Amino acid sequence: MFNVETIRGDFPILSRHVNGKPLVYLDNGASAQKPQVVIDAILQSYSQEYANVHRGLHYLSNLATEKYEAVRGKVARFLNAASEHDIVFTTGTTEGINLISYAWAAPRFQAGDEIVLSILEHHANIVPWHFLRERLGVVLKWVECDLNGDLDPQAVIDAIGPRTRLVAITQMSNVTGTVVDVATICHAARAKGVPVLVDGSQSAVHMPVDVQAMGCDFFAITGHKLYGPSGSGAIYIRPERMAEMRPFLGGGDMIREVTREAVIYNDPPMKFEAGTPGIVQQIGFGVALDYLTGLGMANIAAHERQLRDYARARLSGLNWLNIQGDSAGKGAIFSFTLQGQAHAHDISTVLDKKGIAVRAGTHCAMPLMQHFGLSATCRASFGLYNTPAEVDKLIDALELCHDLFA
Ligand code: ALA
Repeated sequence: MFNVETIRGDFPILSRHVNGKPLVYLDNGASAQKPQVVIDAILQSYSQEYANVHRGLHYLSNLATEKYEAVRGKVARFLNAASEHDIVFTTGTTEGINLISYAWAAPRFQAGDEIVLSILEHHANIVPWHFLRERLGVVLKWVECDLNGDLDPQAVIDAIGPRTRLVAITQMSNVTGTVVDVATICHAARAKGVPVLVDGSQSAVHMPVDVQAMGCDFFAITGHKLYGPSGSGAIYIRPERMAEMRPFLGGGDMIREVTREAVIYNDPPMKFEAGTPGIVQQIGFGVALDYLTGLGMANIAAHERQLRDYARARLSGLNWLNIQGDSAGKGAIFSFTLQGQAHAHDISTVLDKKGIAVRAGTHCAMPLMQHFGLSATCRASFGLYNTPAEVDKLIDALELCHDLFA
């Protein structure tokens, strides 16, 4: 039973006030708040169970290693990967995609090779590929969405040509909430022998994910959006691709033997995890995944669909507000502008005075903003603890903005 009022009690920050008003946190796309169990796990790790991992033979090191390594299995189960060996820990999606760019793509791609991207991508799934354009002469091929923010999977498949070496695509836009049919893209790309990297940074927070059914080669997630600590995350890597990767960062843990002459690397996935990792962050991440699994991702998705429908109905009633990219099956993320002169930053400042947190700007997605012909939007992004009453508060505050700026 998904009871949002009970769930809200799990998140201590939700009971605080901001600018004298009860906090209405609608910036979950940027980062989600943390349940008490995650905060407790961090405290427990640092106060009772802390040591470095994989190194010591003493009690605390073994305990920390056991707790840390258990998270690999939790991530594998969360994504339905076949094995925990398919999971590499990262500091988040940005590091995950940079890892693939550097360790898998860079040694294999040549000038004129193509990477297919959608216009919906976050900079984290753009800039690492621009690196390869700058350094190797790789060509970026862009697939546009329509004005609703919908992306036709067939357009992505049609963009795959004889020189395409990778499709790099988001499963959910952080700006419009558009859900992309990545499974159709993955299956078609696989039939053409082209690997697919899926940016799951937003989608994994809002829907069940099954990387085996999806058929992707890489799937990146980030812990802080999944109600876990910042600096935690992971990437699923199909075993055949993992075997093709050269090491990323060099240092301790990723090696088996180092001599004056040579290095023998550790087995994957540890081959790609150098140095002391975010031990406590990943342990907290594992607790966040347990929390989400306990609630049920299907229940979370159903709750957020109701929020989306309610928010859409109320926002659509404001005839002076434009929703940017209101794709029918999208997640509960709304980017909008007010007709007239009000800048997104001004709107977010007024909302902040009412205790409502939203993001304003380009949302790390400048090509999409250019596609919509906009310099900035306001974005309300909902999470599992948001309520219809909070949608009403947003609408009231937007009506105030309209009165102020009309
Ligand atoms: N990717 C984050 C966002 O969409 C930071 O706000």
